[in-house]
Amino acid sequence: MRNRIDEILAQIETFSSRAAGEIEEFRVRMLGKKGVVTEMMEEFKTVAPELKRELGQKLNELKARATQKVSELKAVAEGGGGVKIAAEDDMTRPGAGTAEPAGSRHPISLVRGEIAAIFSRLGYTVADGPEIEDDRHVFGALNFPAEHPARDMQDTFFIEKDPDVLLRTHTSSIQVRTMLAGRPPFRVICPGRVFRNEAISYRAHCIFHQVEGLYVDEGVSFADLKQTLLYFAREMFGEDSKIRLRPSYFPFTEPSAEMDVSCNLCGGGGCPVCKGTGWLEIMGCGMVDPNVLDECGIDSKKYTGFAFGMGIERIAMLKYGVGDLRLYFENDVRFLRQFDSAI
Ligand code: DAH
Repeated sequence: MRNRIDEILAQIETFSSRAAGEIEEFRVRMLGKKGVVTEMMEEFKTVAPELKRELGQKLNELKARATQKVSELKAVAEGGGGVKIAAEDDMTRPGAGTAEPAGSRHPISLVRGEIAAIFSRLGYTVADGPEIEDDRHVFGALNFPAEHPARDMQDTFFIEKDPDVLLRTHTSSIQVRTMLAGRPPFRVICPGRVFRNEAISYRAHCIFHQVEGLYVDEGVSFADLKQTLLYFAREMFGEDSKIRLRPSYFPFTEPSAEMDVSCNLCGGGGCPVCKGTGWLEIMGCGMVDPNVLDECGIDSKKYTGFAFGMGIERIAMLKYGVGDLRLYFENDVRFLRQFDSAI
């Protein structure tokens, strides 16, 4: 009987519940008419007289402990003496002041920030310029002669009343503003929104974003351009990335090139995204044409430079595997939320 009492005492210590029903069940099991304490009392009657004193005391202890435990459990469950938790006070619910969801950064902002971070490690700073421009900054100073067919490369939005007021078609206008405003060396990147009169499709939009880069100093060479762009490609698309430069034409650079990066989806083997070639075209670049330097008041005999320009949407599409450029402008939160944890 002594062992049985110890066993029940141990059960009392380990039992725990906040549910009123379970506590009542526990009370009945311990102290009810057919409960263990009553059962023990019955058994006590048959105990040998020399053990009665010791076991009687133990039995009283058991009854007292069971009674005390039941009232302790009830006190906690009813909130008496402790923190009162009502049904509407669900402690796992977000607090009233923090109910606003935090939102996430737009993928274009993320990629623009990453491009700026990569070039800032090479000593580039960020330059800015206006979206509403004039002919000189967008075309004239960039070696687009008047009436030259190269102007048709970019379908421009003009203001009807004044053809000298236009929406910039590229952020190369900021390189002009940078050079006109200062003295070499220049090492800047120029991110911004640009506008072209294009039909909207999965691969084109009338509003998109570019980053222009410009480096002008004494002795800047094409080898510097190549090394800078290789560094950029590796930082942006992974350290195994390769680049290749194909001859091209831009009025403001000579020589000019189009840069491809090895396809990061198939590793260069060929897939639908790179159309089986293993290469993705990501930017235009070249050595700044001496005419442009001279137009901007920089001595082209003393200084040389390179420039490059890329579309942020295109980089973001390749980086995140987005197949339709229009998604960046629709502000569908189901699309945007996928970038919650990016970079
Ligand atoms: N401005 C060009 C465009 O929008 C891109 C570009 C090409 C910029 C070559 C450059 C460059 O600086 O060197 O199509």
